[in-house]
Amino acid sequence: MRKSIAVIGLQWGDEGKGKIVDLLSPRSTAVVRFQGGHNAGHTLVVDGVKTILHLIPSGILRDGVVNVIGNGVVVSPDALRSEIEMLESKGIPVRTRLKVSSECPLVLSCHVALDLAREQKAGETKIGTTGRGIGPAYEDKVARRAVRVGDVFDTRSFNEKVEQLFDYHNFVLTEYYGVNPVDVDAAQEALVQFADLVQPLACDTAELLRSHSGEILFEGAQGALLDVDFGTYPFVTSSNTIAGAAMTGTGISLFEIDEVVGVVKAYTTRVGAGPFPSELNNEEGELLAQRGQEFGSTTGRPRRCGWLDVKALRRAILINGVTKIYLMKFDVLDTFKEIKICVDYEGDSNIQSAFSSNPAGILSVKPVYESLPGWESDTTSVRSYSELPAKALRYVECLRELLGVEIAGISVGASRDAMVIYTSR
Ligand code: GDP
Ligand code: IMO
Ligand code: MG
Repeated sequence: MRKSIAVIGLQWGDEGKGKIVDLLSPRSTAVVRFQGGHNAGHTLVVDGVKTILHLIPSGILRDGVVNVIGNGVVVSPDALRSEIEMLESKGIPVRTRLKVSSECPLVLSCHVALDLAREQKAGETKIGTTGRGIGPAYEDKVARRAVRVGDVFDTRSFNEKVEQLFDYHNFVLTEYYGVNPVDVDAAQEALVQFADLVQPLACDTAELLRSHSGEILFEGAQGALLDVDFGTYPFVTSSNTIAGAAMTGTGISLFEIDEVVGVVKAYTTRVGAGPFPSELNNEEGELLAQRGQEFGSTTGRPRRCGWLDVKALRRAILINGVTKIYLMKFDVLDTFKEIKICVDYEGDSNIQSAFSSNPAGILSVKPVYESLPGWESDTTSVRSYSELPAKALRYVECLRELLGVEIAGISVGASRDAMVIYTSR
């Protein structure tokens, strides 16, 4: 029978989802994005060549894999075009491997302008969005006024829709935010070109996947703690990032996901504002940032760093139905004398109240740590569990027990092959 796997980030994004999707994709014949937009930045390193994908699924480098942008994704015409061009300049035949749902809402210049104006006005209390217009685009979808991929094939009707949309948002931009309006003519012209680009790629995701016979990988973007319902609201993204969103974001049925694979960094990072109980504002945090090269793949912003938070991870495992995890960036911990794991929060053990912050995103809970000795040796060339230093194995065993799920693999470097795969001993 056909198998489907969802690959989901279990923290605040940037766990290494791109690497895991690329790793699992040879077995699959379809890789599908189901939420988010070009706020994502998924890095693949193959034969020393780095590729950062924002909108296009991470199976695009593999021949024989159909890459699908599902209806739950918000699509920026500009971002899609430049990503296709970037990949084509590397010799990747994108257009024969890519499909885009006609039902994807578009991210237009008015959404970007609104995102930026809001963040500017919020000042200290800003969310720290990627500034890509993702939130306003999802708002328009829910408000039933979005222009969607399928709309661009009928020039007259889309021109009217775009005009109404820009008219509405320009009022808010100029009258409420006091900033410049966005140019509707330029947007309309760009959409004519976009129609030519996207027409051959457009499809009905639900039909495409229903008739698909091979294994399907659903590629999550962002992470469970950025989920609009379950994350550290309001410091979240504007989509559901958990496995359940694979259904509404593609049209597959409830019964089609066989496995939910969680991707977890061996420590924690977060870009943007909001609660982060195990954050380190000290030399250890700086060492994590420096060893892990923790700068955003989309915006280049420095990522905040801290210890692994098992309390938050348990919640992420629960709401996703995670069956196994990949532990990423293990090598970043190689030089630490002592490694800490946050197992609880002081005083308040309820995660919902622990994650609710004041408007400035300041959190009052303090982490409770368990401490383990570091292995203080280089793991980057390790490829099997038996080669791992004893203290590293102890750390992995400890996590397996604390999380109650299988650890399917340990990533020890950015490249495709830097992976320790679990085989039962
Ligand atoms: P994603 O958004 O979840 O796909 O993750 P990003 O690509 O934004 O961030 C992960 C970063 O870590 C990328 O720069 C990867 O190349 C890198 N990376 C992935 N796995 C490893 C690993 O095991 N070790 C190290 N040192 N880097 C890794
Ligand atoms: P990947 O898929 C990390 C964060 C932003 C901000 C919040 C809201 O690469 O893991 P948005 O622009 O979505 O309205 O911003 O969400 N954010 C991410 N953080 N990785 C991502 O994607 C992110 N996408 C959004 O930094 O805090
Ligand atoms: Mg990323």
